[in-house]
Amino acid sequence: MLDDRKVLFSGMQATGNLTLGNYLGALKNWVKLSDDYLCFYSVVDMHSITVRQDPATLRKRARALMILYIAAGIDPEKAVIYFQSHVSAHAELAWILDCYTYMGEMNRMTQFKDKSAKHADNINVGLFAYPVLMAADILLYQTDLVPVGIDQMQHLEICRDIAMRFNNIYGPTFTIPEAYIGKVGAKIMSLQDPLKKMSKSDENPNASIYLMDDPDTIRRKFKRAVTDSEACIAYRDEQPGIKNLLDIYCACTGTGTADAVKAFEGRGYGELKEAVGESVVAVLEPLQKRCAELTKEKDYIDGIIKANAEKAAYFASKTLRKVHRKIGFPDRIR
Ligand code: TYM
Repeated sequence: MLDDRKVLFSGMQATGNLTLGNYLGALKNWVKLSDDYLCFYSVVDMHSITVRQDPATLRKRARALMILYIAAGIDPEKAVIYFQSHVSAHAELAWILDCYTYMGEMNRMTQFKDKSAKHADNINVGLFAYPVLMAADILLYQTDLVPVGIDQMQHLEICRDIAMRFNNIYGPTFTIPEAYIGKVGAKIMSLQDPLKKMSKSDENPNASIYLMDDPDTIRRKFKRAVTDSEACIAYRDEQPGIKNLLDIYCACTGTGTADAVKAFEGRGYGELKEAVGESVVAVLEPLQKRCAELTKEKDYIDGIIKANAEKAAYFASKTLRKVHRKIGFPDRIR
C-alpha cells in the first residue's frame, strides 16, 4: 500500500490499432474501478519495442492511447496515467528481477512462443524477458489488483511467482497482486474465427472491431461475422460465434446473459448481428468524438503527461530504494 488506498495497476501497448477486445476486456473495467483504488494506468511503450516499430508512428500512437484513457472516462487528476518510458524505475527494477527469473519459466510463456513464431527474424532478448518488465511494472507500485483480459493471466502468474520468490529470500518487499477479470468481455473473440482471440495483429481487418472504426464499418463487420447453422440463439460453447456476439452485446449494454438470450429468443441471426452492431456503435461513437476533442487540447494533455510522470516516478522510487537496500546495493551519498 502506498497511501491508505489499495493500489491498482494496468497497462496497454500502443502497438497496432486497438480493438473492441482491449476496450471491453480492460479499459472499461479500469474506468469502473478507478474511484475505489489508487490507480496507475500506463501506456507501456517500452513493451512495444519488443517488436520493430516505426518511431513516428509509435510516438503518435502512444499519445493517442493516453488520450483514449482520458476519453474513456479515467480522471487524470485522480488516476496516474503516464508513459512507461518516462519512469526509468521500470527498466531498473526489470533488470533486478531478471536476475530472479529462470530461463525455463520464460520459455513456457505462450505469448513468447506465438510472437517468436510470428516474428522469426527478430526473436530478441526483450521479447523473451517481456513478462519480467511486466512484473516490474506491477510490483513497483505495490499493486493489489491488476485488471486484465484472460490472455494476460499467465504473465500475472509469473509476476506473482517472482514476487513471492523475492519476498522469500529478502523478507516482505512486494505486495502480491491479484488479477481482476471482468465478468463479461474478458475474452472477446475474432468475428471471423470465434475460436481465436480478437487481436490487433490479426491480418484480416474484418476479424476485429477497431476502436476508431466508423459506424458503417462496425455495422458491416458484424453483418459478416461468422456464426453457425444451428439457427438458434443460445449461450453455449458449441456455438462460439453466437456466444461471442452475446458477450459483446452484454458488455456494451450492461444486460445479463440470461436476459439477453431471452430477449433474442426465436429471432434470427441477422437481427442479433444488427442489435450487437448498434450496441457497439452506441459505445464507440461518443468515445471517438471525445478523443477528437481532447486531441485538440495540446497544452492540457502535455500538462497531464508531465505531472503524472512525476507522480508515478515518486511512488516507483520508493519501492526501488527498498529493493536496492534489500539486495545490498550501497547507499547513495546525498
Ligand atoms: P495488450 O496491450 O495486448 O492488451 C491490453 C489489455 O487488453 C486486453 N485484451 C483483451 N481482453 C479481452 N478480449 C480480447 N480479445 C483482448 N485483447 C486484449 C488484455 O488482456 C490487456 O488487459 N502485456 C500487456 C500490457 C502490460 C500490462 C502490464 C498489463 C504491460 N505491463 C502490467 C497489466 C499490468 C499487453 O500487451 O496488453
